[in-house]
Amino acid sequence: MKLANRLSRVKPSATLAVNAKALELKNKGIDVISLAVGEPDFPTPDHIAESAKNAIDSHFTRYTAVAGIPEIRSAVCEYFKRIYNVTSKNENVVIGNGGKQCLYNLLLCLLNDGDDVLIPVPYWTSYPDMAALAGANPVFVPSSVENGYRINIESLEKACTPKTRVLILNSPSNPSGVTYSQKEIDEIVLWAVQKDIFVIADEVYDQLVYNDEYKSTAAKLWEQYPDKIAVINALSKSFAMTGWRLGYTLAHPDLIKEMVKLQGQITSSVCSIAQKAGVTALTSSYGCIAPMKEAFKRRRDLAHAELSSWEGVICPKPEGAFYLFPDVSKLFCSKYKNAPELCTYLLDEAKVAVMPGDAFGLPSCIRLSYAVSDETLKKALTAIKQALYK
Ligand SMILES: Cc1ncc(COP(=O)(O)O)c(C=O)c1O
Repeated sequence: MKLANRLSRVKPSATLAVNAKALELKNKGIDVISLAVGEPDFPTPDHIAESAKNAIDSHFTRYTAVAGIPEIRSAVCEYFKRIYNVTSKNENVVIGNGGKQCLYNLLLCLLNDGDDVLIPVPYWTSYPDMAALAGANPVFVPSSVENGYRINIESLEKACTPKTRVLILNSPSNPSGVTYSQKEIDEIVLWAVQKDIFVIADEVYDQLVYNDEYKSTAAKLWEQYPDKIAVINALSKSFAMTGWRLGYTLAHPDLIKEMVKLQGQITSSVCSIAQKAGVTALTSSYGCIAPMKEAFKRRRDLAHAELSSWEGVICPKPEGAFYLFPDVSKLFCSKYKNAPELCTYLLDEAKVAVMPGDAFGLPSCIRLSYAVSDETLKKALTAIKQALYK
């Protein structure tokens, strides 16, 4: 079959591939625990789900405006006001099919062939492929376990080229959990703005920050530089709504218009029913987030304490999201020479699925998600430890 050349620029999503392998074993009746998951293990809160049922009952089941119904666009503005005291209007908002579509549309709107995109390492696995699909070159900004995977102006300066057009800043980060303070965000964003580098701030984990001193957003600077920054967020992780596919972009109206034009030719609007659920989530009390966040914090502490006690494992303590990203390179040996082999070994021996760091640009690491119950997490960690240190 003759296929398009652009396909050679994309790899299959690594996270989805590991989950599929774990599922295959499960389907064979093997009891596998997946710590490869990238979604909360909680159900969508009842009051949100209820409004979707009402939308169906009242036949709110047709196409909507491509950018989203006016109520959900203003609900996003309300979110930015309530959480960050940032003022925006409907014209600054487009609703997309998850944070993922928002990011991709944004890159398609901003990049030309041959442009460079700065991507701090470790990165969310889709960024380089999305940038490549948009015709651009991913340029990686290194970090190391020694500095807790944090990038700084010096590392950005070194990676920056005359062709750099965009910086993708993900805080809290998937996979490292690194969360930048407002001071750090301001420094990094201002550095980019001064260099005329457009900043895409991916803040899909913004509600899952476990230490208030790290609560931060690029939206504050967006108010000052609306044509130099766009903020991506989603209801997926904060409101346990991954399957509803609700993401949004906050940006300059001219950019939003272009994103809507593009989306109108690709997917049109997000599902009408999901949008009604999104309005309820964003305009009601945000109290439903607290118990989930508390559980994630407890599991982070539990898993971090455990991993930190293992010989040869270096595990910086994440400030946000729901992943741990330990450096395990000291454990590599003839049985498992690298992270993918170690992950295969753990799946076979411990029956636990974790992600190799290669998928996130750091092959010395593995990623463990703690978006599973406390019992499951403890069981998985015990099994991993037994497999590694027997
Ligand atoms: C850093 C990051 N950005 C964006 C997304 C996409 O989120 P959504 O499920 O809303 O498309 C994810 C999902 O895992 C993520 O981890």
